[in-house]
Amino acid sequence: MIFDPRDPQHAVDGVPFETLARIRAEEPVCPSPQGWFLSRRDEIMTCLEEVTTFIADLSGMSELSDRAEVPEDELFLSEIEEPRHGRVRRLYNSCFARHRLAKLGSFVEDTCNRLLDRLLAAEDGAADLHIGYAMPIPSLVLSRMMGLPTEAAQRFMEWSLDGTLMQRTPTPGVDPGGPPVQQYFGAHLARRRQESGEAPKDVYRTLMEAEIDGQPLSDREIVTQLQFMVMAGVHTTRTFLTHLMHRLLFHPELFRTLAEDRSLVPNYIEESLRHDSPVQSTTRRTTRGIELAGVKLASGDWVEVGLGSANRDERAYEDPDVFRLDREDPRDHLAFGAGSHICPGAALARLEGQTAVEVLLDRVAEMSPVEGVQYPPLPSSLSDLPIPARLVARA
Ligand code: HEM
Repeated sequence: MIFDPRDPQHAVDGVPFETLARIRAEEPVCPSPQGWFLSRRDEIMTCLEEVTTFIADLSGMSELSDRAEVPEDELFLSEIEEPRHGRVRRLYNSCFARHRLAKLGSFVEDTCNRLLDRLLAAEDGAADLHIGYAMPIPSLVLSRMMGLPTEAAQRFMEWSLDGTLMQRTPTPGVDPGGPPVQQYFGAHLARRRQESGEAPKDVYRTLMEAEIDGQPLSDREIVTQLQFMVMAGVHTTRTFLTHLMHRLLFHPELFRTLAEDRSLVPNYIEESLRHDSPVQSTTRRTTRGIELAGVKLASGDWVEVGLGSANRDERAYEDPDVFRLDREDPRDHLAFGAGSHICPGAALARLEGQTAVEVLLDRVAEMSPVEGVQYPPLPSSLSDLPIPARLVARA
């Protein structure tokens, strides 16, 4: 059996969870068009934790050039080798630390309320929960954390849809100054360097003041990491928020349960991450030969790591395909990865998810799908598909 986690058909028909269950039972390490596909939680944990044997290498994603050809200060966080990876990562952790998020809470809430004002005023009663709510929230929040004007959020959304976000080298004849995302961050960095007086303690300032082994980060490295924050944090979080909205839209009983008992919202957030993992798979490359579940992997092999499959592993979860709010340890899932590359934006994503759901439950009495609309399957790697809904405001 060959399994391709990137098969575009999954976006149309949905992730084939029955096939994944068969793979976990019969061939937990199976071939994929790129190399190997890991489907069970045990092997996946080994792979994510043994970072010197399984290295993160984004050039497995076709848009990015070979890691070996990329200058050191243009490597995205995931691709940097230890010990520097850990040092750059500490800067990310500081950017998204809990005390920073605590100050951001009211901005996230106001943002959700402002977006809902517009949706509730929609003239024909049909509002788009993806384009009008789930999509703008992560971009507006991240641009705020970076200290950028609101118009930056519009650009984040455009770049995440038009494919330019993944570019790192200039395209001859098209953008000799580099990809638009790098030009934008570079121009703002130059402005920040000119400013005098006390600058706000935002993401820019954290990176501008940072030193690693006594050396400041170069402008190129700062721009590269800002680009990676948008790459890693915008599409993932909007997919997650859309999943949260989509499920509430199609399960009115769940909507009522959460509206009546808000203490269940955190469980809803975690169960959505487990059951409908926004990142279904990630990639590694082996640095030496290794045996996994009886299969011999050669040095240099590509490995597709099925996080979404691990989160449905019947060895780890009771009723893995059932969406339940009463799991004993709701955070026990791999939606944010594991090991030293575990997502540094997880707390931010959870804050946005929690707030988006709470504000919706505060303002909307009920909502229903629009007849005749073809909705995308869940979970889905969304493009710009709308999720229209008829909303009834709370009195
Ligand atoms: C629900 C939303 C999100 C999901 C599901 C998610 C998922 C993940 C996963 C699975 C990984 C590990 C990838 C691997 O090991 O190959 C990861 C890493 C990462 N995430 Fe997230 N993420 C989300 C939101 C965010 C946000 C909001 C940010 C920041 C703005 C962010 C920044 C990153 C970064 C920088 C890494 C790389 C860490 C490293 O290599 O050390 N993510 N994320």
